[in-house]
Amino acid sequence: MNNIPRLNVIVLISGEGTNLQTLIDAEKAGKINTRIKAVFSDRPKIPGIKRANRANIPTHCLTRSNFPNRAKYELELASHIDSYEPGLIVLAGFMKVLGAGFVSHFQGQIINIHPSLLPRYRGLDTHRRVLEAGEEKHGATVHFVTEELDGGPRIIQYRIPIKAKESEAELAQRIHEGEYIILLQAVAWLASQRLALEGSDVILDNQKLESPILIEGKHERSP
Ligand code: GAR
Repeated sequence: MNNIPRLNVIVLISGEGTNLQTLIDAEKAGKINTRIKAVFSDRPKIPGIKRANRANIPTHCLTRSNFPNRAKYELELASHIDSYEPGLIVLAGFMKVLGAGFVSHFQGQIINIHPSLLPRYRGLDTHRRVLEAGEEKHGATVHFVTEELDGGPRIIQYRIPIKAKESEAELAQRIHEGEYIILLQAVAWLASQRLALEGSDVILDNQKLESPILIEGKHERSP
């Protein structure tokens, strides 16, 4: 890491904040060259806010219903975030769709963790939909955020085989564990300036990624 300044990170959450916790713990342990400057949520009293409080990270809750329209909400959100001079914005379970104005303001600086093997299963309820479709594999993706919902250039994916008769809860838990691995890896790359978005290309170690880096989860426990 040497001379590379710490990357100012803003994390946006809507719920449990276990991905946020992973980042907090890794930063504390010196595993990522970051400074989590603030956590923003769109909902009050969520567990993720308590995690930030425990780590002495400033928190802000901006609820959409307090604004007359999405544009005004996002303008306010962007202006609060700007005040922290962020180098990276992490959507870690943030369940609001962010519009073109917000995304272009932070062009190339926003990443999202999504619980599916994108481009498959964008949107909500991915675990249930994957099970209902009888898929053999499932996973999670970290990608740069563009205006297209869950459609931005992919950086890294985690993939596991689905067990026979696996429940939605168990699958969700196993995917969550993989999310922590790939989110941490993507943030570590960004913080060490090894990863960037150039146009619509993902550049890792000066080379264009033709496809996302794939981490295969363990073929643990036979069904
Ligand atoms: C994670 O599974 C994340 O992939 C998902 O929300 C969960 C948040 O968990 N994000 C989305 O579905 C975004 N479309 P966490 O609050 O414990 O980190």
